[in-house]
Amino acid sequence: MSTNKRPEVMKGARKGALKRLFMMIMKDYPGYFFLVTFAIMVVAFAGVANSFFVGNILIDEFIQPSLDALEAGLTTNAYTYMLNNVTSTTFGIGFVPSLMVLGGIFIIGILASYTYNFFMAYIAQGIQKEIRDNLFDHMQNLPVSYFDQHTHGDVMSVYTNDVDSLREMLARSIPMMTSSIVTMFAAFVIMLFTDFYLAIVVLLVGVLMFFLTKFFASRSGRHFIKMQMELGRTNGYIEEMISGQKVVKVFNYEKKNVEEFKKHNEELFTQSVQANRYANILMPAVNQLGNLQYALIALIGGLFVINGVKGLGFSDLLSGHIYSMGLITSFLLYSKSFTQPIGQMAMQLNTVTMALAGASRIFAMTDEPVEIDEGYVELVNAREDENGNPVEVSEHTGKWAWKHPHTDGSQTTYTWLKGKINVNGVDFGYVPNKIVLHDITVYAEPGQKIAFVGPTGAGKTTITNLLNRFYDIADGKIRYDDININKIKKADLRRSLGMVFQDTKLFTGTVMENIRYGKLDASDEEVYKAAKLANADTFIQQLPEGYNTVLKNGGASLSQGQRQLLAIARVAIANPPVLILDEATSSIDSRTEAMVTKGMDAIMEGRTVFVIAHRLSTIKNSDVIMVLDHGKIIERGTHDELIAKKGTYYQLYTGAFELE
Ligand SMILES: Nc1ncnc2c1ncn2[C@@H]1O[C@H](COP(=O)(O)OP(=O)(O)O)[C@@H](O)[C@H]1O
Ligand SMILES: [Mg+2]
Repeated sequence: MSTNKRPEVMKGARKGALKRLFMMIMKDYPGYFFLVTFAIMVVAFAGVANSFFVGNILIDEFIQPSLDALEAGLTTNAYTYMLNNVTSTTFGIGFVPSLMVLGGIFIIGILASYTYNFFMAYIAQGIQKEIRDNLFDHMQNLPVSYFDQHTHGDVMSVYTNDVDSLREMLARSIPMMTSSIVTMFAAFVIMLFTDFYLAIVVLLVGVLMFFLTKFFASRSGRHFIKMQMELGRTNGYIEEMISGQKVVKVFNYEKKNVEEFKKHNEELFTQSVQANRYANILMPAVNQLGNLQYALIALIGGLFVINGVKGLGFSDLLSGHIYSMGLITSFLLYSKSFTQPIGQMAMQLNTVTMALAGASRIFAMTDEPVEIDEGYVELVNAREDENGNPVEVSEHTGKWAWKHPHTDGSQTTYTWLKGKINVNGVDFGYVPNKIVLHDITVYAEPGQKIAFVGPTGAGKTTITNLLNRFYDIADGKIRYDDININKIKKADLRRSLGMVFQDTKLFTGTVMENIRYGKLDASDEEVYKAAKLANADTFIQQLPEGYNTVLKNGGASLSQGQRQLLAIARVAIANPPVLILDEATSSIDSRTEAMVTKGMDAIMEGRTVFVIAHRLSTIKNSDVIMVLDHGKIIERGTHDELIAKKGTYYQLYTGAFELE
């Protein structure tokens, strides 16, 4: 149950996942999405506008003229002069209104930033919820074979790790990256408007940063993915050791386990250090380049100011401009807006890569083909008409009929559910080249008890898996009341078969709820009756809370035999016409079994029963016993016939040949 075999995902799949995520957002939250995009742009432009105001307006149009006036002797107090006499040449407003505009831009920026964070988090939570819903919905319809091929750990980690890293990416990384790109773009545009020469300086440093980032990010990215995989492996190991605690203890494996765990943990440590080492060099390096750029612009700009060099930008293509302190200040701020996002994006890159890998695993699971059901014959409640034919009714009658709709438009016909099962020349293999069952033929008349015996791995459970269509047969036919089971709706087929599995599964909930699982609308009295029938009543009464005792962890607080008794009660309450019991009493002691057998006989009365039993004493009274070996039926007949034959069954029965 470890996560160590999770496939790494191809780049193409990651791109596809991004596109599908985008489509999901556009479908469910188009309004919010545009609001978020708009807010991100507002934030970016507010940032740039701030820089513009500080440099071009405050310094160039207020402070500088006031200082000039002081120097020229027009005033003795530059501050009051600025407050009262200076107006912005760009906007034609005074100092205080200009400050208010600046404050306004600032507040708008904050509000927009709050807006996009809030709504993006909302979208991310919503998508996360939808994905979990989709996954669970889809999982309910996956064929049993899917769970043969995927460990629980794998499936669980899609729900937990993958869904969570996806939310992280949507809520944080994507808005951050979008805002980074928009900010860079806005900053670059305004730089071009302001001055080409300094813009080129910023661009050159920016390119240098880009390559530096790429270099480090690709190196750390590799280790981040390795770190993630090692994390999965370590978690898988822990998970396995928790569920296998008892085995570990009886074999005295504790010490060896600790060593093994330390190995995993050490590797995780190494990979984390590597990943973070590069990531940790990156930020200081980018920051240092940022400082270098600052110094360069201040130096070059300062020289331009001193030497009265003429600059050029889109805003003054023809006239050109003289460099001013304000312009240099603005430029320093723009350059910061331009280069800072590069580092920020680099930090998000790993999150995005991992989240997209997770997203493609999520989509791989939701794309997994579901169990197909081309069946059309339905099981319905029925009553008898005057001729003894079934008539469909909606209420429970305890009688069932098959409903056959006819595609040629003629009337729907009904036939009684009798419980006759014919298996004819069936071949089957779980995997294509490994045939598990060969030419199995079994006829069960209504009310007959058919037993399967044979060594472990002979294919007994497999036959029951085919009857309820957990798997589809490769060759041959299975008919139920002379209807090919492929034509019966799967849900109805399974409803008509009561199964007690070899490995009993109880759910978290009370004993009462677990028995009622067999028939959801059963009354309390029906539950008690079923429990008594299965001989489970006595031990249930002795539980701390009786029928209201809460079972956890698959009923771990009960003995295996007690769990089997509950499973039998669960089937008894469903009252199905055909029963399949796969070693249903294998963990129950002989004495209890003798008692259960009475109840079982009552449950089996009037039903077709397939029984697989470990203890041959329990199947002696079967109508037919099939001896299975290596997927073939090697002997068939009644107990007496088989004993007389002195073949494999005889040897098994007399103990000359041990079962398992
Ligand atoms: N889900 C599965 N996938 C692949 N092979 C399986 C699966 N279940 C059982 N088998 C194989 O099919 C054979 C028959 O198994 P099974 O019917 O469970 O035997 P029995 O119930 O008689 O002990 C065995 O060789 C087993 O390894
Ligand atoms: Mg079995």
